[in-house]
Amino acid sequence: MQDPLSKLRIEDLTTSNEAMARCFQLATLAATSDVPVVLLGETGTGKTLLAHAIHNSSARAGRPFIAFNASALSDTLLESQLFGHERGAFTGAQQSIKGKFELANGGTLLLDEISEMSPLAQVKILRVLEYGEFERLGSERMLTSNARIICASNCSLRERVQQGKFREDLYQRLSGLTLLIPALRERLEELPALIATELKAASSKEGKNITAIHPKAMEKLLHHDWRGNLRELNHTVRTMTLFCNGSVILPEHVVFPPDLPAPERALLENGKFVPAFVSNSNEANDATKDFSLETALKQHVRIVYEQANHNQRRTAKLLGISRSTLARYLREAVPN
Ligand SMILES: Nc1ncnc2c1ncn2[C@@H]1O[C@H](COP(=O)(O)OP(=O)(O)OP(=O)(O)O)[C@@H](O)[C@H]1O
Ligand SMILES: [Mg+2]
Repeated sequence: MQDPLSKLRIEDLTTSNEAMARCFQLATLAATSDVPVVLLGETGTGKTLLAHAIHNSSARAGRPFIAFNASALSDTLLESQLFGHERGAFTGAQQSIKGKFELANGGTLLLDEISEMSPLAQVKILRVLEYGEFERLGSERMLTSNARIICASNCSLRERVQQGKFREDLYQRLSGLTLLIPALRERLEELPALIATELKAASSKEGKNITAIHPKAMEKLLHHDWRGNLRELNHTVRTMTLFCNGSVILPEHVVFPPDLPAPERALLENGKFVPAFVSNSNEANDATKDFSLETALKQHVRIVYEQANHNQRRTAKLLGISRSTLARYLREAVPN
């Protein structure tokens, strides 16, 4: 079966949430150029999906989309995965293989969980990005790759740089455009539409004729914290479809996964991911979300500041305000 992501384009994605719409706008912009892109968002928010959409909407559509996750590889395996190897390059290398950079030539390379990459991986990637050249393990022949780089991370790369865990020079190279994908609990207004789409698909797949959701069931869905984001939502909708034998989803059909996978839960509970556009996490979890203009203004300042790579002059220009006004906003909007 063909991977549904292989054809997905940015214009196929719809949203009623402003921050998400901003994200799609930036994604559209990213698709018109080869500028490196960083996708930031909690697990399950749709980083991989958006990376595919950017690729498919770009001039590189039709060329390979290669995803690479280097977080759990030994150093030899990592080099061989990134750059390929010749037969006999190391024990067990029975045939030569192409690396991800070579495979992604002309296309897009998604570097997933980039913040978890080892220091060695960071150096190796930086070298290719700087010189555009690399060699397979066991070969001296220089190869080139013009792969467009998209990185995904569920924690702030800037914080990792500040903690000394991520190279500043690599961070600078990678962060052309930074897209912050909001967590699902920050865009609850989207829930009904997202549920309707997934329910229709799941219902037809299971051969059921589900036509409505009981208000109490919807209330249950709206009050859930959705720490697993879209992944958890889709899973929940599929489960409730299975439980429902009539035409209406009832509250008892809405069952949440007892636990998220342990690493994801740990990541969120350690507060490793703090979305830049939420001033504090209680605000995000609170059903009485703050819709005041003042909060919206602070969020906007933070987003633009992030997009401008923390360059205050550019941020002020983009916002159309003086640098002293910006400095005042930043003191309030981006607490240190
Ligand atoms: N806008 C969307 N509409 C419907 N489904 C979505 C949307 N965004 C993501 N999904 C679905 O949610 C699931 C998680 O998405 P994805 O894998 O892109 O998240 P991720 O941010 O890359 O997660 P991780 O950090 O774990 O890699 C996928 O099944 C994807 O198809
Ligand atoms: Mg992903």
